[in-house]
Amino acid sequence: MTMAAEKTEIEVQSENKEMKDIVALCKRRGFIFPASEIYGGFNGFWDYGPLGAELKNNIRDLWWKHMVKTPPLGPDGQPLQIVGLDSSIIQNPRLWEASGHTTSFSDPMVDCRETKKRYRADHLVIYKDKSGAMPWIAVFEGDEADADAAKRMKKMAKNIKVENSDVATLTDLDVADFEKILGPDAAEVGTLTEPKEFNLMFKTYVGATASEDNVAYLRPETCGGIFVNYKNVLDTARVRVPFGIAQVGKAYRNEVTPRNFIFRSREFEQMEMEWFCHPDDAAEWRQFWIDERMKWWKSIGLKDESLILREHDSDELAHYAKEGVGTVDIEFQFPFSYPGFGELEGVAHRCDYDLTKHQEYSGQKLEYIDPHTNERYIPHVIEPASGLTRGVLAVICDAYTVDENRPSGVFMDFHPSVAPKKAAILPLTAKGEHPEIATKLYMELREHYAVDLDIKQNIGKRYARQDEIGTPYCFTIDNQTVEDGTVTVRDRNTMEQDRIALGDILAFLREKIG
Ligand code: GAP
Repeated sequence: MTMAAEKTEIEVQSENKEMKDIVALCKRRGFIFPASEIYGGFNGFWDYGPLGAELKNNIRDLWWKHMVKTPPLGPDGQPLQIVGLDSSIIQNPRLWEASGHTTSFSDPMVDCRETKKRYRADHLVIYKDKSGAMPWIAVFEGDEADADAAKRMKKMAKNIKVENSDVATLTDLDVADFEKILGPDAAEVGTLTEPKEFNLMFKTYVGATASEDNVAYLRPETCGGIFVNYKNVLDTARVRVPFGIAQVGKAYRNEVTPRNFIFRSREFEQMEMEWFCHPDDAAEWRQFWIDERMKWWKSIGLKDESLILREHDSDELAHYAKEGVGTVDIEFQFPFSYPGFGELEGVAHRCDYDLTKHQEYSGQKLEYIDPHTNERYIPHVIEPASGLTRGVLAVICDAYTVDENRPSGVFMDFHPSVAPKKAAILPLTAKGEHPEIATKLYMELREHYAVDLDIKQNIGKRYARQDEIGTPYCFTIDNQTVEDGTVTVRDRNTMEQDRIALGDILAFLREKIG
């Protein structure tokens, strides 16, 4: 007898997570709003509400602590040397010429003359009818994170009976063949234009004259500011190779298809660290950082099962990568990619590409001279580069837990270290001694933890709110508190309630939350 394999609790949870429910909770509880919502929003831009800002700051601060304040111990058991930086978002445009962004940070785009829609050429899949009787059908496959859209479109291609077809990507076709193609959503054949490179950097003008001489760019990644400060840091911070420079901050990309909530947006935040090391040691450091970064994501609560490592294929190798030492991505199982995964962080071996380019373009010597051996070399760079805002999305998706046994129907299982509120204090009634005791407790706890004092509304609704914002513990002040100085403590995940003395609450939180 064969038995169907039983699904694990995590598999059941993953299947129950719907992006639309997560987006609705984020809006309802004040985590994330569309930017300028009262004007209809602005595609690819998002605002972080009171709880979203707390959550993002918590993740950022934990990363900063792990990288800069108390960096990990190296293979020799000694703390690594990593220093922080906060560089300008707008830099001398020569920086982006040297890094190759001005010429190569682009996607090939095609326009449809009929529908006026614009597509990434490498995302248009063409079904070529071999008989010659039918037009060739272009299907927009979206990006790797939108498997659902791709499935829908493929089904459409089948419905219009493109049997007996060869499949190719638009970028592989001869432009002369474009006249045979029916674009997505087009009624006429042959309306797609020749692909043109579209640079993803946001341009602006610095100073009062909007001329080409005054063009500057919003940084498309935070690491650029690190490379141009490598020498300043080396000369001032008393660091020696190997060492790291870490930076957190906004980055901007004029993404053609921002999608999947905050996963791919036009303004986002990155947490990047450039690790400068001797070329001979780079492979070992690369593995070190892959392991460290994976451990860190788990330490802030992401489940083992939700994370994988994916080595880049040879055709994905970046311009700076050498064969065999490409980028490894840490990928997370987002609900929109389920059962697949989407990139959360890349750990790249950038070799000496950036410093060599900046040396060439700036004319400044960026060699390192080993103080012991006098060896001169351009350090190699290992770069763990993650998205802070994408990390927020991963943490939110991982924490979202459907539970039909509670009034809210859902709770956010945040790890206490990232939870926006660590505890809530809830007086049972809004008048008299309950709120007085609650306020006194709140004034004491708020010196140590981010706590919420919530006085009004029935207690069930207040528990539901705390469940949905992921507060690990609720302390309820009731009549018994007045008599014997104990409160109920309710555990978010189990909903179990115990009594605990007012005077023991701080020690309780220290034990549970740290
Ligand atoms: N300095 C290397 C670099 O920027 P990347 O893979 O382009 O590498 C690093 O970006 C991380 O930044 C990604 O793993 C992702 O988490 C985040 N990221 C990149 N583009 C993003 C976007 N449009 N929206 C949100 N996060 C993004």
